[in-house]
Amino acid sequence: MIDFNVPPYVGTEEKYIKEAIQNQKICGDGAFTHRCSEWINSHFHVNYSLLTTSCTHALEMSALLAQVKEGDEVIMPSYTFVSTADAFVQRGANIVFVDIRPETMNLDERLIEDAVTARTRAIVPVHYAGVSCEMDTITDIAKARNLLVIEDAAQGFDAYYKGRSLGTIGDFGCLSFHETKNLTMGEGGAFLFQDERWREQAEIIREKGTNRSKFFRGQIDKYTWVDYGSSYLPSDLNAAYLWAQLEQADKIQNNRMESWNFYHEALRPLAEKGYIVQPYIPPYAEHNAHMYYLKAENETVRNRLLTYFKEHGVLAVFHYIPLHNAPAGQRFGRFHGEDVYTTRESSRLLRLPLYYGLKREDQEYVIQTLYSFYQESWS
Ligand SMILES: Cc1ncc(COP(=O)(O)O)c(C=O)c1O
Repeated sequence: MIDFNVPPYVGTEEKYIKEAIQNQKICGDGAFTHRCSEWINSHFHVNYSLLTTSCTHALEMSALLAQVKEGDEVIMPSYTFVSTADAFVQRGANIVFVDIRPETMNLDERLIEDAVTARTRAIVPVHYAGVSCEMDTITDIAKARNLLVIEDAAQGFDAYYKGRSLGTIGDFGCLSFHETKNLTMGEGGAFLFQDERWREQAEIIREKGTNRSKFFRGQIDKYTWVDYGSSYLPSDLNAAYLWAQLEQADKIQNNRMESWNFYHEALRPLAEKGYIVQPYIPPYAEHNAHMYYLKAENETVRNRLLTYFKEHGVLAVFHYIPLHNAPAGQRFGRFHGEDVYTTRESSRLLRLPLYYGLKREDQEYVIQTLYSFYQESWS
């Protein structure tokens, strides 16, 4: 059986976890957490990065910092993971879904302006598959209408928009280090921002509503409860795991990119014959080989293909069921404009196995299986 995902593992994780234990500091904000944050700051040119327990929690921090409240509206694509919406729904917001661009599966920036109302508080672009949204248009609209831009960059580690790292362009950026992502710490994420004015409040929200971060920096002599907050900081054990991977990020990323390119070249003839549609990378985007997806002719063929893969020992998957069609999406959101692409394109999409260390012969088998499917179907 060829797995769909295997969490990345580089071999130095245990060594660093042991070091964290020997440091006798395994709670949050230990030495490894600091190392990881510094790495992210310097590699992605971002002033502040706070490690979190997940990207979901980084999104929740965004909603709290943005002071999203009952009746506010937040604009986002419906084609995304539940957390993108849930973080704002928890604060009482109504979600306004806009359609996607079929070629990238990202929200169509040309539809945002029309969805803005007096109640809109934020725009949440999701960089699907580590391929950037059209950020200039989005940040221009936000500036003109005094809205926040909160990037869901769960899949955007080491991916770029016009040379700028995803997650560092809007007001806030949220990364994921879940085990399905390019780099992992089991469960985890990061909350990124450039503007110093958010720092104190972000730290308070992350540290249970206290000013403990200031206390640890020696800026105050005792810490206390100063505002609302939660506990969004990960254990240093998880950060130690992530540190091992950050140190070898290039190796992981190069390996994924090789696999991505191999699929892309090998499947081109199927695309040229019109059987499948391959991912498209706009000229402004540098992607990170987070996923390799293809689109079948329609949902029926996609489902047959999923079954065929399973019968031949390959775990391919589909996602997402558009949020506006889900029970909670209907309760907490509305679709603005027409759903031309969201439902149609998502129902055709299928993801192929892609992970660090995927063997070339396994990849060849996946490709060959895909070719046999089309030969059997159309001969
Ligand atoms: C687009 C998107 N947003 C948010 C998340 C949530 O990330 P996490 O599992 O780190 O909470 C995911 C996870 O897959 C995602 O794909």
